[in-house]
Amino acid sequence: MNGEPPDDRPLWDALLAIFACPAILVARDVGLYTALRDGPRTIDELSSALEIAPRPMRSLLAVQLAVRLIEPAGDGFALTALARAYLLPDSPSYFGGFLDLVQMGAPMYTYDGLKRVVRADAPTMGDVFDPGAQDPGFARAMTGGMHAMSAAPARAWPRACGWQPKVLLDIGGGSGVHAIEAAQRWPELEAIVLELPSVCEIAEETIARHGLTARVRAVSGSMWKDPLPAADAHFYSQVFHDWPLAQCALLARRSFESLPPGGRIIVHEMLYEDDAKSGPLAIAGLSLSLLFGTQGEQYSSAEIQAVLAGAGFVDLTTTRTFGYWSIVTGRRPG
Ligand SMILES: C[S@@+](CC[C@H](N)C(=O)[O-])C[C@H]1O[C@@H](n2cnc3c(N)ncnc32)[C@H](O)[C@@H]1O
Repeated sequence: MNGEPPDDRPLWDALLAIFACPAILVARDVGLYTALRDGPRTIDELSSALEIAPRPMRSLLAVQLAVRLIEPAGDGFALTALARAYLLPDSPSYFGGFLDLVQMGAPMYTYDGLKRVVRADAPTMGDVFDPGAQDPGFARAMTGGMHAMSAAPARAWPRACGWQPKVLLDIGGGSGVHAIEAAQRWPELEAIVLELPSVCEIAEETIARHGLTARVRAVSGSMWKDPLPAADAHFYSQVFHDWPLAQCALLARRSFESLPPGGRIIVHEMLYEDDAKSGPLAIAGLSLSLLFGTQGEQYSSAEIQAVLAGAGFVDLTTTRTFGYWSIVTGRRPG
């Protein structure tokens, strides 16, 4: 080899990241985050409260420090704002359902499991969106996971949208988290969540829990074949990423035909940071996870814009809204 080999740290970071995810799940399970809720504690205090020997305690804490979930405080450690927002159960943006979903998938997300889906290009979980085959328990876990990961970005996109709809149709809206946050931001808004029957029931419960049944309702149906309720904005969050681009084009065309002139389409996704799809790693990982249960993948801004342009939408914009999240919007001319 000529000269020095390149810095090998990116490989170390990727190869040993295999321990980061379980270290967060285990920390939650043993009660580390809640043990730090009321203030800093030392390693010895944490060891005895959580019944974990000092050596594993130090290694578990080192990952939390590296991910900036805890920080040094006096002789011990304190939760950061990041951990308080996403890892304490009473926070409105708690990741709980999302962590449950990751934990549920752990037996599948192995070396063998990934090799199988990469080779087969067919989801090992079957068609998770087949209403006839959908297990209600799985639908509840999946919807809880989506709700948890959507809680924070759902508050951000209406602020970034720059336009206020009268009636928002949240297509494949899951728990209704986006419709609910939009209705809270815009007091005049009427919102409709279109969902498969088993998820529709969960959306109704969530809407009622937020006291919004007067303005937000859930409608059971299929976005592929049922007539779409009248609305001046169609919102799709993490729906395009479940399908190949040709199917996304079908959805965009259905939306174009159903929206009035001047109506908008809003596609909410975690987009790759550039059109070459060169990161970030979290979005590349999310794309791999979709191999297990969907026909989709993560897309770039250019890909979503091309789908919307192909359906006839104009004034296409992509706006970063929160963290890795963006909206791609278009207007039906007229
Ligand atoms: C990845 S989840 C996104 C949920 C929600 N939009 C969010 O961002 O939190 C995709 C949703 O699409 C729904 N879905 C799948 N096929 C559908 C169909 N044919 N008609 C309506 N909704 C569908 C699923 O039930 C699921 O809730």
